[in-house]
Amino acid sequence: MKQPTQWWQNNVVYQIYPRSFQDTNGDGIGDLPGILQRLDYLQWLGIEAVWISPIYESPMEDFGYDVSNYTEIDPLFGNLEDFDQLIHEAHRRNIKIILDYVPNHTSHKHPWFLESKSSRTSPKRDWYIWRDGKEGGPPNNWRSVTNTTVAGSIWEFDEASGQYYLCNFSPIQPDLNWENPEVQEAMFDVLRFWLDRGVDGFRVDMVDFISKDPEFRDEDFEPTSTSDYLTQAKYQCNRPESIHHIRRMHDVIASYPNRVMIGEVPYHATLEQLRNFADPVNGAGMELPFNFRLTYAEMEAKSLKEFIDRYDASCGNDMWPNYNLSNHDRARTSRYGDLAGIAGMLILTLRGTPFIYYGDELNMPNVDVPPERQQDPWLVPETNRTRDECRTPMQWDANAFAGFSKTEPWLPLSPDFQKVNVEAQKSNPQSFLAMYRKLIALRKNTPALTVGSYESLSNIPESSLVYLREHEGEQVLIALNCSDEELIVPLPPKQSDWRVNVSTHMDRDETVANTVTLRPHEGAVLL
Ligand code: NOJ
Ligand code: CA
Repeated sequence: MKQPTQWWQNNVVYQIYPRSFQDTNGDGIGDLPGILQRLDYLQWLGIEAVWISPIYESPMEDFGYDVSNYTEIDPLFGNLEDFDQLIHEAHRRNIKIILDYVPNHTSHKHPWFLESKSSRTSPKRDWYIWRDGKEGGPPNNWRSVTNTTVAGSIWEFDEASGQYYLCNFSPIQPDLNWENPEVQEAMFDVLRFWLDRGVDGFRVDMVDFISKDPEFRDEDFEPTSTSDYLTQAKYQCNRPESIHHIRRMHDVIASYPNRVMIGEVPYHATLEQLRNFADPVNGAGMELPFNFRLTYAEMEAKSLKEFIDRYDASCGNDMWPNYNLSNHDRARTSRYGDLAGIAGMLILTLRGTPFIYYGDELNMPNVDVPPERQQDPWLVPETNRTRDECRTPMQWDANAFAGFSKTEPWLPLSPDFQKVNVEAQKSNPQSFLAMYRKLIALRKNTPALTVGSYESLSNIPESSLVYLREHEGEQVLIALNCSDEELIVPLPPKQSDWRVNVSTHMDRDETVANTVTLRPHEGAVLL
């Protein structure tokens, strides 16, 4: 088997939502100097790669995913000098920096769009997708991604020019026309601009939406939900032409040594689609097309085993797996309640790159933000809640505003911040943070956990998930009890006894012989 040796295979990637990590200038919003200030914490935690959600100039109508200048830092976050310093200091600590890249759409306030909108004959008219209406309505029946009932049109009417423009996500985010070579070149230059500044890779937003059916044909089915619609849509997204454009983005990124491309692909992508995004010969060639399955999976042993077995096998030796539990669009891992520890242990011990969302290492809650403090204009279809719940400020300590800011933050703090915070958990050897730190260190120092093979075991209690990681004779066994009852898990034979090295309860260090007894909701890593 070809052994993975790349940094993006061996490291954990930690996602920072910059508005909510650390505020340094007292405006209640996180900034780049704040991330700089917290690099020592990340290093202490064992993090060697950080992905930062968008920091570019933006009217912030979608908090940075609506870019108005791709090569400037938004003044809220700082400036290019702050950015260069951040890269420099991160690299000095052996931490890679991955930026977000938003190629599918710009802000409606981007000068490109203002120019495009100014007249039908504007030289940038074709940089976006403009069409005449049909029979007194929009050009076709495609639907907006943000609409929970999938009823809203993807088209927005512009009174002044009498045409519609296409916006997959929302009217403030018009889609770029990627079939226009000028757009391609301008957007490739954006990649080069940041790569030249030393960025180690990109997480690319909404890659499957980039190309549209050239004939703009109607979708021909009646969806029951947004995810159902997005999975089945043939013309609006999921186009084979997108693969071609992603491949070219990848070529630009890969022309610099040691870089990574991570793609936001469909949440419900099939294994075949994931392979196609990764395939370096016939597909898009990106290193890590996100595997989002666990962002909406139950912590239920049987279905988890079934999915992980299939996914790991489908990755085989030529595609590197990855796992996400949460992000700035999806609820935090604390949604699993008593099983949140198991969820963390799971992704930190599987074969593949784990993505950790800031604050999940503390088991920060999903916050019920009162309507008058809500900021996010869109609802998550599955939960009918805005995404604010998972974007509240990082909880650093028990001081006013949790050490995040000197003033009331842009989103309310979770009411539990005086108990759930970095400082409190740092001094508690049984805390969530202690478990994450120990697992990250163990992963880094144990080749079986990074490069080792994955094999799930059968003949085990029904509500348990047990798997073996193995490399050159070194074996690590992970046993997770997803039930609220005690379970006795038989252990495979080994030359010496098994030792419980980490328990999710952080209170065990013992040798066991033929079985290990797991308390309710306990996970254990045995060496
Ligand atoms: C996906 C991003 O993760 C999300 O936060 C954003 O709102 C949409 N893309 C639109 O860019
Ligand atoms: Ca600030």
